Amino acid sequence: MTPIQKVIYHKNKNIKPVWLMRQAGRYLPEFRKIRRKNTNFIDLCLNKKQVKKITLQPIKRFNLDAAIIFSDILMVPYGLDQDVNFKKNYGPILGELELKNLYKISHKDFTNKLNPVYESLETIKKDKLLKNRDLIGFVGGPWTVLVYMLNKKSPKKNLNKLIKDKGLTSDLLEIITNFLCVHIKNQVQSGASVIQIFDSWAGLVKKKDLERNIYEPTKKIVNFIHSLKTPSICFPRNIENYKEFTDVTKPDVISIDYKVDPIKIIKNIKIPVQGGLDPEILLTNKKNIKLKTQKYLDIFKNHPYIFNLGHGVLPQTNPDMVEYLINLVKNFK
Ligand code: CP3
Repeated sequence: MTPIQKVIYHKNKNIKPVWLMRQAGRYLPEFRKIRRKNTNFIDLCLNKKQVKKITLQPIKRFNLDAAIIFSDILMVPYGLDQDVNFKKNYGPILGELELKNLYKISHKDFTNKLNPVYESLETIKKDKLLKNRDLIGFVGGPWTVLVYMLNKKSPKKNLNKLIKDKGLTSDLLEIITNFLCVHIKNQVQSGASVIQIFDSWAGLVKKKDLERNIYEPTKKIVNFIHSLKTPSICFPRNIENYKEFTDVTKPDVISIDYKVDPIKIIKNIKIPVQGGLDPEILLTNKKNIKLKTQKYLDIFKNHPYIFNLGHGVLPQTNPDMVEYLINLVKNFK
């Protein structure tokens, strides 16, 4: 059993596995070096040799308990034949969404297009560095993927215009949810030991739309992951009511963002918890990092807990601070 599976299935409180969202990425000079030579981000995510190298970069440096496949939540729109580009210092830019084409794409076409992702997982899984470590596969939450496909870039606060046509959004959510399940199944079959659902824009949904846009599609995906005998981690970033979210969607683990109060979480939520520490803390100093990290470890001492941040590692982070943080968690008594 892997470290994360021990926490989930045995509710083990004695081990505090640690991994970080965006642990493979721009704060690492060895990643930036590869990125400079590979200007097309999607092509890089489909390059098996480089994906393996990048996924293992943080594992070689730090005492982490899990690797996360180097990929992106926007590989799914790409698999659905929508153009996806990444502009430097701007973020993703997606092409027009061709609805007529979307309805025609088969599971087989989609799987073929994303096959390098699955082959990468297979070879990473076999590497000796993965012994006693989790290999995390992931998808975007259906809502977050929908937002990117319709808005064609990272959203600002107001999404009213985007979701005006309720019929269209619910049709699209259903199609996206089905393909996310295909992507999950392929990742699990290729060796992923856990699946995390990144719903980065869950916090933008109004209360009255939560059931339709977040709860119902997420529940479907969580159930699907469980049907594959695989653990699920949900990260509904900035959602107002984490307790209600977990009660309704029933994931194995709830990953919390840095704005929520961990003391309130531990009082209300009985399932294993992941994350919380503000990634900005890593930009400060060792004394402060130690103080804030110990706070989370103290609060979750008697609760099944996976150490992580409340969002991804920031690009300007010093890798020495990441090393310091991980050693603090590993040496915590
Ligand atoms: O180490 C890991 O966590 C695995 C790899 C990973 C990436 N993206 C690589 C990446 C994961 C898990 C993601 C998830 C992802 N992608 C999310 C959910 C998590 C979150 O941050 O909220 C979202 C919303 C995306 C979409 C996306 N991809 C954006 C908005 C951007 C550009 C801005 C940014 O945050 O970097 C990307 C590009 C991206 N994905 C990079 C990496 C390493 C940077 C690429 C580069 O320019 O070099």
